[in-house]
Amino acid sequence: MSDDRLRAERRLDLGLALAGEDDYAAAIDALQAACDLAPTWVEAHFALAENLEKLPQCSAQAEAAYQTCLSLDPTDRMGARIRLTLLGATPTPDRLPAAYVEALFDQEARRFDTKMKDKLNYRGPEAIAAAVEAILPDLTHPARVLDLGCGTGLIAPSLRLAAGRLDGLDLSSGMLVQAVATGLYDSVRQGDLLQDPWLIDEQLYDLIAAGDVLNYIGDLAPVFQRAAAALTPGGFFVFTVEAGEDDQIELGEGHRYRHADTRLRPWIAAALLDLVSLERRILRQEKRQPVYGLIGIARKPTLTVDLGLPTQSLDQKTV
Ligand SMILES: C[S@@+](CC[C@H](N)C(=O)[O-])C[C@H]1O[C@@H](n2cnc3c(N)ncnc32)[C@H](O)[C@@H]1O
Repeated sequence: MSDDRLRAERRLDLGLALAGEDDYAAAIDALQAACDLAPTWVEAHFALAENLEKLPQCSAQAEAAYQTCLSLDPTDRMGARIRLTLLGATPTPDRLPAAYVEALFDQEARRFDTKMKDKLNYRGPEAIAAAVEAILPDLTHPARVLDLGCGTGLIAPSLRLAAGRLDGLDLSSGMLVQAVATGLYDSVRQGDLLQDPWLIDEQLYDLIAAGDVLNYIGDLAPVFQRAAAALTPGGFFVFTVEAGEDDQIELGEGHRYRHADTRLRPWIAAALLDLVSLERRILRQEKRQPVYGLIGIARKPTLTVDLGLPTQSLDQKTV
């Protein structure tokens, strides 16, 4: 490591300590020095931007510092674009950057379950369990099940009730390590649900579940399209989202998208899925306030093709 980088690290530590004491002006001086010593160090520019944001008169400089982060790291591991959106400087993106989400959950993976259960009172597994129970009579048995954004596997026990085979897909290798440790998955793999082909050996799924993962994607049209393509006729897509009020894509302070019922319905219809139910319920707590979500069940239709033949024993044809 170069001397300049070492000096920059000391400035960064000092800047963070000063910020911890709410002395933002002094913190900014130290962090600016860190950036000057290590001009390509994204973390330093990001810390500078975050502290510039604390001072209303510095918002233009904060924007410029976040832009620097983006130009240094176009994959946006630090999440600079989200900050720019929340500052009103750029339009809401269609999704959070994959590199940012991956890094976030890699960091969280070890303490994720405890945090979700004890601190956030996460109710997703119960919501998914209730949905699976409701569709169980109409589900093919044993079902082939895909858990999108499976994380550490918190919803796997409910899916396992229906699953003959359970596959997990997630961006974060750290989360997947925990998922494997549950012993509940037949396979897991690392991938972005907006890029990954979803299918293994072109085998369709009878049930696809997405618990607390669609909050990281603003435009869900491609997700419903992909679900429709990956489901067997009559197969189910069970999902949760954070409930939004706005008709636009809404990105909350917690860096999660909220989706309104009125936005979800046209996406589901456009994917030629039937909406079976969409219920509002509390999915978690944040800052001791309930966070409302929507739990949806959509189904791929099973079409009966009338061939006009005078027979009583025509099998249902599915498309
Ligand atoms: C809040 S956790 C929820 C995990 C689990 N489904 C549950 O209910 O506990 C969100 C998970 O979705 C994953 N994720 C977010 N965006 C994703 C994407 N585009 N493709 C695949 N996984 C994604 C994250 O890595 C994380 O593990």
